[in-house]
Amino acid sequence: MHTGTLFRVYWDLLTSARHGRLCHDTLWRVADWAAQQYPRRPREATKVAKRKLHQIHGAYVRQLDLRRMGELVGALPEAGDAAALEAACRAILACHASTRERLAFVEELYPALFALTGVPSSVADLACGLNPFALPWMGLPTEVRYCACDIDGRIVDAVNALFAHTGTQGVAESRDLLASPPEWDVDMALLLKTAPCLEQQEKGATLNLLRGLRARHVVLSFPAQSLGGKGKGMRRTYAETASCLAETLKAETQRLDCPTETFFVLRLAR
Ligand SMILES: C[S@@+](CC[C@H](N)C(=O)[O-])C[C@H]1O[C@@H](n2cnc3c(N)ncnc32)[C@H](O)[C@@H]1O
Repeated sequence: MHTGTLFRVYWDLLTSARHGRLCHDTLWRVADWAAQQYPRRPREATKVAKRKLHQIHGAYVRQLDLRRMGELVGALPEAGDAAALEAACRAILACHASTRERLAFVEELYPALFALTGVPSSVADLACGLNPFALPWMGLPTEVRYCACDIDGRIVDAVNALFAHTGTQGVAESRDLLASPPEWDVDMALLLKTAPCLEQQEKGATLNLLRGLRARHVVLSFPAQSLGGKGKGMRRTYAETASCLAETLKAETQRLDCPTETFFVLRLAR
């Protein structure tokens, strides 16, 4: 019914400077949704599609210093110089508010998580953002397989550059977790500060994703405050969300409270 409009909207998104580097599945999914709203009005459909993408991704990317990230990734120091590599990764993590606020406790975070789960032999970093640049503080053995995905191709390129530069056995993919959830079989999946964003895209998306995951442990995290610094009741609200998910999945849960973020480690029944 709305095929012409669908293709028109998809093309507009694909060729736009703002959205063109997003995963094609995401563009298609949003174009389809918009074409259903306005089957015979392609201009209107493109407008609402762009607005939707802004909700999904715009707030995140607005906070991301893409130019600085690109420069720093292009000038990564010798992987053998651990101190210089840490300094560069710190600067890259600081390019986005989400990973910048994690820097305050990044040294303690992964030892504390692995104390609960054991050191994983494979990791899936889902909707990774810049988080793989925390690898220097994870203390993972060199043979660990690290799979990552995000809908933003520029982030995916940066993470693949890190993997190549450091000889990490890893791959980052441009992937939409709603349209095509990964089938990686891993010890640990990370879904950090992303569940609220997935729920905004589709109600129940987090549960659907977790149901299909092939992972022994899932680390779910939620912000303890908004990016503006307000945190009224957020820890309690998200603790209820995590507890609901764990109950439905019959997963054992452990909790780790950090200054700006709450982590829930779910041991999935497989
Ligand atoms: C709040 S950021 C969190 C990034 C990272 N996990 C962290 O904790 O720093 C949300 C991330 O989810 C990505 N994202 C949003 N919707 C997605 C989807 N449907 N599939 C995959 N990634 C998505 C965004 O591009 C962004 O990098």
